Amino acid sequence: MMADVQIISAVQPLEDTVLVSRHGGVVAERARWQGQDVFVKTLESRDIATARRFEHEGAVASRLNHPQLAALLARSPTQLLFSWIEGCTLRERVEQGPLAVPEALRITAGVLRGLCELHMYGITHQDLKPENVIVAASRPEAAAVRLIDFGMSHARDLPLDIHRGTRMGTPHFMAPEQFRGLRGEPRSDLYSAGVLLFDCLAGHPPYEDAMGWLAGLHDQRAPLPGPGALHPLMLASLQREPQDRPESAQAMLGWLSQVAGSLGVDLDAHGDPTPNS
Ligand SMILES: Nc1ncnc2c1ncn2[C@@H]1O[C@H](COP(=O)(O)OP(=O)(O)O)[C@@H](O)[C@H]1O
Ligand SMILES: [Mg+2]
Repeated sequence: MMADVQIISAVQPLEDTVLVSRHGGVVAERARWQGQDVFVKTLESRDIATARRFEHEGAVASRLNHPQLAALLARSPTQLLFSWIEGCTLRERVEQGPLAVPEALRITAGVLRGLCELHMYGITHQDLKPENVIVAASRPEAAAVRLIDFGMSHARDLPLDIHRGTRMGTPHFMAPEQFRGLRGEPRSDLYSAGVLLFDCLAGHPPYEDAMGWLAGLHDQRAPLPGPGALHPLMLASLQREPQDRPESAQAMLGWLSQVAGSLGVDLDAHGDPTPNS
């Protein structure tokens, strides 16, 4: 499982850098490093809490070595260098319109495979949303999924519990218990995976007023998209209480595979090369 991550002490010289984003005291860039394309996060802030979160993100990422999870190449207290993933985020994909059922199922299968691996090692992602899923340009589709961004993750055996209150983004993909402050529940990630599946098929997440739903004020969910055979699984993953959801990523993946089979969808097929068709 442990990746072969270089521990670096000196700031790494980067070439051809292109800014990707800059927020929360961290700069993200695309660059060339040691002859390869990399995605680099550099800590700029001197704030101690920010530095500890950065350290935590590196510590979690350095444990991961799986085809569906972003690969960390090297880390220092101020730099994280990941393999560059050529492709587009699921956000960019869904913005072009709802996905076809086979694609949505394959992408969800890829997400669940990544979660199986994370959860097996006592790590919960906790910030699963379309911006944090990259669908690489490679095929087949399920195998092209990469989960990224372990900045909010929780690891059973790491001391730090992250509450990145300053950047609580969209509430749409967050499970109700996370909203209440609970961390480290693997089934929170299953809720988010269910929302991802819904979002892929409908082109929008289930609750227009997600805050109201999270706070327990209403249950006004949009109609379930996609074929009826998928609805029991989707509904189960969207349950308010973690114990009412599938019991594990493995169980949810098994269920998804069964439904895919009943719909005649091969989860490991190559899909259509043109996006959203
Ligand atoms: N390994 C990677 N290869 C290519 N693009 C990436 C990679 N990691 C992240 N990105 C892009 O950069 C964005 C920000 O990265 P992320 O790790 O999610 O940081 P944050 O959300 O904390 O800013 C992602 O949404 C994605 O578009
Ligand atoms: Mg992100």
